[in-house]
Amino acid sequence: MPKITFILKDGSEKVIEAPVGSSILEIAHKNSIDLEGACEGSLACSTCHVIVDKEFYNKLEEPSEDEEDMLDLAFGLTNTSRLGCQIKMTEQLDGIKVKLPAATRNISTK
Ligand code: FES
Repeated sequence: MPKITFILKDGSEKVIEAPVGSSILEIAHKNSIDLEGACEGSLACSTCHVIVDKEFYNKLEEPSEDEEDMLDLAFGLTNTSRLGCQIKMTEQLDGIKVKLPAATRNISTK
């Protein structure tokens, strides 16, 4: 099974088995990774924002226009930012690294 590495907010790394066809958001949720995903993947928020390793960013399919629009709202946007719910794991993405941004724009009551 392909693997994904999450770089957590404290800088530590977590390597996780990533089933083909699952989105990065789903994988994060199943493994208690702190990626919010407030709209559950319906492109109505930007809280699933992740920063993808450059090498892998180029292997991903182009973001849709809707994703681009949402990304514009993401806090701490970078050149390799994507929405985690829009990236589906494939065998080609084995070893992909994604970083959780330090903060999101969502107002949290936690
Ligand atoms: S979970 Fe809301 S856009 Fe990805």
